[in-house]
Amino acid sequence: MNGYQHWHYEQDTQNIVWLSIDRADASANVLTETVLKEFVALLDEIQALQPRALVIRSAKASGFIAGADIRDFTPIPSRAVAHSLIKRGQAAFDKLDGLACTTVCLIRGFCLGGGLELALACDVRIACEDDSTRLGLPEIKLGIHPGFGGTARLVPLIGDLAALDLMLTGRTVRPRVARRLRLVDYVVPERQLVAAARRVALDPPRRNPLPLWKRLTNQAWLRPALAWWLKRRVAVKANPAHYPAPGALIELWRRHGDNQHAMLEAEAESVADLLVGDTAQNLVRVFLLQERLKSLGKGAEFRARHVHVIGAGVMGGDIAAWCASRGLSVSLQDQSPERIAPAVGRAYRLFCKRLKDKRKVTAAMDRLIPDVDGQLVARADVVIEAIFEDREAKRELFRFLEPRLKPGALLATNTSSIPLEELAECLQEPQRLVGLHFFNPVARMQLIEIVQGKQTDTAVARAAMAFARQIGRLPLPVISSPGFLVNRVLMPYLLEAVQLVEEGVPAILIDRAATDFGMPMGPVELADTVGLDICLHVAGILGEELGLPVPERLKTLVAAGRLGRKSGAGFYQYRQGKPVRERGSSVQAAPADLCDRLILRYLNEAMACRREGVVAEADLLDAGMIFGTGFAPFRGGPLHYVAAAGKDAMIGRLHEMQSRYGSRFAPDPGWQTAQTSKDNNDAA
Ligand code: NAI
Repeated sequence: MNGYQHWHYEQDTQNIVWLSIDRADASANVLTETVLKEFVALLDEIQALQPRALVIRSAKASGFIAGADIRDFTPIPSRAVAHSLIKRGQAAFDKLDGLACTTVCLIRGFCLGGGLELALACDVRIACEDDSTRLGLPEIKLGIHPGFGGTARLVPLIGDLAALDLMLTGRTVRPRVARRLRLVDYVVPERQLVAAARRVALDPPRRNPLPLWKRLTNQAWLRPALAWWLKRRVAVKANPAHYPAPGALIELWRRHGDNQHAMLEAEAESVADLLVGDTAQNLVRVFLLQERLKSLGKGAEFRARHVHVIGAGVMGGDIAAWCASRGLSVSLQDQSPERIAPAVGRAYRLFCKRLKDKRKVTAAMDRLIPDVDGQLVARADVVIEAIFEDREAKRELFRFLEPRLKPGALLATNTSSIPLEELAECLQEPQRLVGLHFFNPVARMQLIEIVQGKQTDTAVARAAMAFARQIGRLPLPVISSPGFLVNRVLMPYLLEAVQLVEEGVPAILIDRAATDFGMPMGPVELADTVGLDICLHVAGILGEELGLPVPERLKTLVAAGRLGRKSGAGFYQYRQGKPVRERGSSVQAAPADLCDRLILRYLNEAMACRREGVVAEADLLDAGMIFGTGFAPFRGGPLHYVAAAGKDAMIGRLHEMQSRYGSRFAPDPGWQTAQTSKDNNDAA
């Protein structure tokens, strides 16, 4: 093993050195500080061997390299530390770039971020033609841009616009697309990878220059105009005040796009600036929170093969379709075949969109079996109830289901408001019942609340989390209390928005205040999207439990059949699924406290949930609200935001609001006692 922990190499009889990355004690390769340190030492050693060629590959089945180790990015004590971290990465790949021999990179599986930057520093890249291989530079999603020489090497390799597109979107590409882009030189089947590498190593190809039309955009006089246009385009997608990285990347290219050396220098400066900023630190935090939720699904042996869903309505139908699209065999039960048919139609459209390949779509359709009588319950590893939100109807169904369940099968409900303990009362083994609270639309919402009633067995809850992971979702453990976490925190915020509409504030201004804060969609449009009937139903239940008055406007709209997007009208009118914004209303000035009214109610409820222990930790609460509602990711989650913005100032603001608007703004006692994520970190 040549005395290295994470790499090993051998020199063959044709004087080719085969260097494999195999990070110790990990299933995937990432570039940690020590991995890079060893790499640099190895390059010196290999150079001394004077090989004819160096081939770099991965020894892991999971893929090539997933990127730099994100844990090295946070916390970053100072800009100087950030800069030297980036410079060390750059120096390693510069060394690789400067080797006298031919360098070849063999790419199979993911090749992302720092992994692709390493590949870019090689002379030749060969990608494996398989389903798992993906290449990309997703740094922008973490609030930075490539920093290990990626910007400076990619631009001359594939052309400005293609390079900027890859880096600004952070999207990944499959091998054939990578070949078309010139990101890789060859795409070959797995069995030919080694032979192809050997051939190239012994007889390196001559690289054709980039076609003229791909170089035309890289003119000193043209870049400023293009940069201006690009900045405008990216600003539509992400507010530059919240997300500075796209603008910084474009600026880097505008200034140095035709000078690789200067671009390398400036790249390190730019990434160091970004890395110490709040946005990058919070986006890295969000990434780690996501990893945390994923890890909750580990540790249980549970693995489902067959899922039985009862209720083929909005939720049940889509849950069944999602599970089938993920490779599970699924039976779908409802009161009649006519009620199942629309769900099967929707499933077909989902399969076409997700799976694309005709054969895969047919296979998924074959896996989805209508089962009016529930005959396949006995075969299921997971049974999910998603019928009307009616306590007695659900209990009656559970009485039917329980004797038919196979031992060890998960019994789950998708109820959004009925306490699990009450549903479980009718069961012989109440500890079996767990909540799997999906969100609408099922195919888009990443989070599932794993609801534990007092009676739920912890092993059952763990199995439910493993199941959520199996179907590619993020599990969030919550206790069975009104609205669980996500709906409960969201509801006061939505009701405040309705209250504002009632007071005559145009919906468009309310929504803009929220999107300016960083929410992906304003609360009025969100209410329309969820469905005003559903909002009213949940508000009614939560209103009773938490003392939230339900604004009249919500009731009158629902009574008039204006249910939101799905009925073509709610607070907004909809044309082709898009809200029609009234002209003129946007010129009216928004009330000065508009944003505070919305956000403080959200944060106040989050504090209440934390105090009541609806979720076990502040970090889990933040994760739930980010992945369940899209809470401004660059702020790192509601409780993290409170800590950063200052808890005391917010309590003061709540008191002000309370005296102006009444008791709904009274600060929850949780503000005094509950710890935020920052407190946790400080204490650690
Ligand atoms: P839905 O009204 O669209 O569908 C319910 C389906 O259940 C209908 O097709 C009905 O025929 C069927 N059904 C009723 N009783 C049945 C029985 N005994 N046996 C077999 N099928 C039966 O309802 P939706 O919106 O899908 O809600 C289902 C559950 O999911 C409810 O508990 C709801 O609270 C929950 N939920 C709803 C969300 C939403 O946004 N709609 C979000 C999260 C949870």
